[in-house]
Amino acid sequence: MLQQPHTKYRAFAPIGLKDRTWPDAVLTRAPIWLSTDLRDGNQALVEPMDIARKMRMFEQLVAIGFKEIEVGFPSASQVEFDFVRKLIEEDRIPDDVTIQVLTQAREPLIARTFESLQGAPRAIVHLYNAVAPIMRTVVLGMDEDEIVALATSHAAMFNDLAARQRHTCWTFQYSPEMFSGTDLAFSKRVVDAVTAVWNASPERKCIINLPSTVEHSTPNIFADMIEWMHRHLARRDGIVLSVHPHNDRGTGTAAGEFALMAGADRIEGCLFGNGERTGNLDLVNVALNLYTQGVWPGLDFSNIDEVRATVEHCNQIAVHPRHPYAGDLVYTSFSGSHQDAIKKAFAARREGDVWDMPYLPIDPKDVGRSYEAVIRVNSQSGKGGMAYLLESEYGIEMPRRLQIEFMQVVQGVMDVAGTELSAANIYALFEREYGLATVQALSNRVLEAQADASVLLRGQLHWEGALVDMQGQGNGPIDAFIQALQEATGHRVRVIDYHQHAIGAGADAKAAAYLELRVDEAQTLFGVGLDADVISAALKAIVSGLERATAQGRQGAQCTVVPA
Ligand code: KIV
Ligand code: ZN
Repeated sequence: MLQQPHTKYRAFAPIGLKDRTWPDAVLTRAPIWLSTDLRDGNQALVEPMDIARKMRMFEQLVAIGFKEIEVGFPSASQVEFDFVRKLIEEDRIPDDVTIQVLTQAREPLIARTFESLQGAPRAIVHLYNAVAPIMRTVVLGMDEDEIVALATSHAAMFNDLAARQRHTCWTFQYSPEMFSGTDLAFSKRVVDAVTAVWNASPERKCIINLPSTVEHSTPNIFADMIEWMHRHLARRDGIVLSVHPHNDRGTGTAAGEFALMAGADRIEGCLFGNGERTGNLDLVNVALNLYTQGVWPGLDFSNIDEVRATVEHCNQIAVHPRHPYAGDLVYTSFSGSHQDAIKKAFAARREGDVWDMPYLPIDPKDVGRSYEAVIRVNSQSGKGGMAYLLESEYGIEMPRRLQIEFMQVVQGVMDVAGTELSAANIYALFEREYGLATVQALSNRVLEAQADASVLLRGQLHWEGALVDMQGQGNGPIDAFIQALQEATGHRVRVIDYHQHAIGAGADAKAAAYLELRVDEAQTLFGVGLDADVISAALKAIVSGLERATAQGRQGAQCTVVPA
């Protein structure tokens, strides 16, 4: 790279529109959307779509709700021509959808384009020619008058050819290609000349589409250019003002949104930003940005994964995992502090509340995503994420100190494995650590109330490979069990804290008990018990804790330190 890039590159000159209004504009309604996936998007593919893939894309676009769809460049190839014919001849175009086709300003291509549209009920025919100085002087070798003549003479052909196909309801569209790299006064001159030829009026509007064929400037400058055209174009009330941003600087979405604020009525782009080089403006992005501002975009992405799968199939290009709204990872937080905030905000949220979630600008459910992916656990995660997964997937509501204790186990595994742990992985660890599947309930349990208000507990317990008879008396079942346990095993257990809740409802409901125990005055740790019976769950939790303590004792652990 150059140390002095100004010797090679020049800054884009600002427009200097001093009385611009767009910065204060608020978008309160959806624009007219035009998908050019089947034209500009398709032109950019390594392997352009065949007819089957084009049809699949067309049907997907219709299902999303697009009413204007650029279906191809019929004079460019036989496939393009045949696809347009197929749509018309097989009556595939819904009554509320208008197809659009592109043609260069060249006589035989325009004739072939109109031929492809024979029998269409409605159609937008899209004419373009380059207007930027670099194209005019170097590529076309024309002066400004010649460019105006090129545009108007071919625009006039539209009038003639359309008059010969009267059964079709025609809309004409003109794009001054490379508008963003062209002097505004000249763009206006060419566009005004074209709209004069087409006799644009409120009754017979044409579409003027202003492309940033190459994105040259910051999006505010593009917005100034659009506002300038919006204010200065002749026959403005006979024009649907459209924009067609590309994304060379990575600001296509911003440019499109600013352009709408600056007076554009219509916007062209592709799903997930496919298109030449860095792509066209991403229509999903703009539509869902509007949605998150409370504006119905008129495009339905309730099942964004299905849309993504179709587009990936048709384009043979994967959507990036970080792609706004659609990527695999965009609703996922790995960071512990983010997870904690999300978990708390979900708990505080009530049905009907306005959406205000940390780290989640949209409710994943609105685009057909589950909350499953919201929190995932890797080495960056904290206890909050792990606890969230166990709660949301398995109904386990761990008390905070248990979360801290168990997170050490999770972290230990993560440090060795180095990979992400799924909810199922974490539950398997939890089950193993607290003996959920192995700790047995006290069998043949008898609980008798005594005259002095205490209870007498009898039963049999599997302890260290043998079935041991037990008996104890205390001020409740837990107290009695602890007495019995001390006599049978020699271990003294003290309950420090006790939490319990139900998992599920009805006949399948289970009780979960989490007991923080002090064992032999040497170790403080948790035991966990799950059982259909509340008392059994608590007694199992005590055995779970005692087994963990003795196992840790065997491994030489003195005590499990649980920070407050
Ligand atoms: O980017 C562009 O300039 C185009 C025109 C044909 C509208 O795609
Ligand atoms: Zn384009």
